[in-house]
Amino acid sequence: MTTDYAVLSDLPCSKEQIENCIYSKWYPAFKRFTPKSRIIKPLPNEFIRYLEQDGIKLPPPEHEASVYTRVTIDHDGNTRENWEKQGKQESDEMRPIEHFLQVHQQIKDIIQELGPVTPKLNWSSPRDATWILPNNTTKCSEVNEVYLLLNASNYIMHDLELGHELNCEFELVLRQWFALNPALEFRIFVKDGKVVGVSQRDLNYYHYLHPLADQFKNLFDRFVKEVMIPRFPDKSFVIDVYLPRPFEKVYLIDINPFTRKTDPLLFSWNELINFEAEGYDLRLISENNIGRFASKEHSENQVPRDVVDASLDPNAIRELAEKWTKLLEQQQAESDSE
Ligand SMILES: Nc1ncnc2c1ncn2[C@@H]1O[C@H](COP(=O)(O)OP(=O)(O)OP(=O)(O)O)[C@@H](O)[C@H]1O
Ligand SMILES: [Mg+2]
Repeated sequence: MTTDYAVLSDLPCSKEQIENCIYSKWYPAFKRFTPKSRIIKPLPNEFIRYLEQDGIKLPPPEHEASVYTRVTIDHDGNTRENWEKQGKQESDEMRPIEHFLQVHQQIKDIIQELGPVTPKLNWSSPRDATWILPNNTTKCSEVNEVYLLLNASNYIMHDLELGHELNCEFELVLRQWFALNPALEFRIFVKDGKVVGVSQRDLNYYHYLHPLADQFKNLFDRFVKEVMIPRFPDKSFVIDVYLPRPFEKVYLIDINPFTRKTDPLLFSWNELINFEAEGYDLRLISENNIGRFASKEHSENQVPRDVVDASLDPNAIRELAEKWTKLLEQQQAESDSE
């Protein structure tokens, strides 16, 4: 009898390996190769409880609040006075100005210094929550946008769980925002000091990448050998890099542990773990395999647009609830009559 299924290769990952990938652990050694970042650390308990509580409590409108967050607040009727009243009613609820004013001020100062930023916690960015901002990106031009993104993200919730599990200090990373071309983002898999695969990170087809693959591989090999290996404590890791035109300098965006939890993109983990040959693949989406990956990223973490709109507007919530109730009643009536 033959087995027609693959046996999963074991891939142990230590606590230390995961801790090495915390942003503040590696950033100092890679400053020259990474977008400018500021790290607020350690985050007070109040800030963590704020992220963990249900709902999103924003501070009262301030003069620099974006039109977007101002509208949100107005819809909820959260003027300064009734916001303060609410505060007295629900006393164990965390709110920025009352419970972590210092961090709140630090975030504002950093945005003032760097301009728009993109936030992340120890390991993850709220990539699944871009739907909550009007520009549909993780670009934050003011502090309330940082709160909206972090609160709406499941990936951030996973970071909180992992941080509690490992009992480590939490940190908020604010990276200076730049308009990055997703076609030029790559994920490099390094095992025991050797590159075992490179994948395009954004799973769309970009025809102009194909003739450049060999040139990119040379640059990535050099980057891993000359920049990563001498500075990073592990010999196995997965890095996200950015290679803007004119394709000379590689920028480090993130370091991830070499574990199954890290998305292998156009590879399978079994392939990466068992790779022994010389000469690895740089995999790109081709015209032919585009369909396989066409599903929307983070779709499992997204909610329908009308639910989002409704969550920001109490009248819309009521309407939506009424619509759903009617629909359910209709379905019930139909199944009763069958
Ligand atoms: N400074 C920046 N300016 C603009 N966009 C950025 C910046 N840094 C990162 N990004 C974008 O955010 C995306 C996610 O960033 P990052 O890799 O740090 O998140 P992550 O949560 O660790 O992702 P993963 O779970 O895939 O490891 C990047 O792929 C990039 O498109
Ligand atoms: Mg990452």
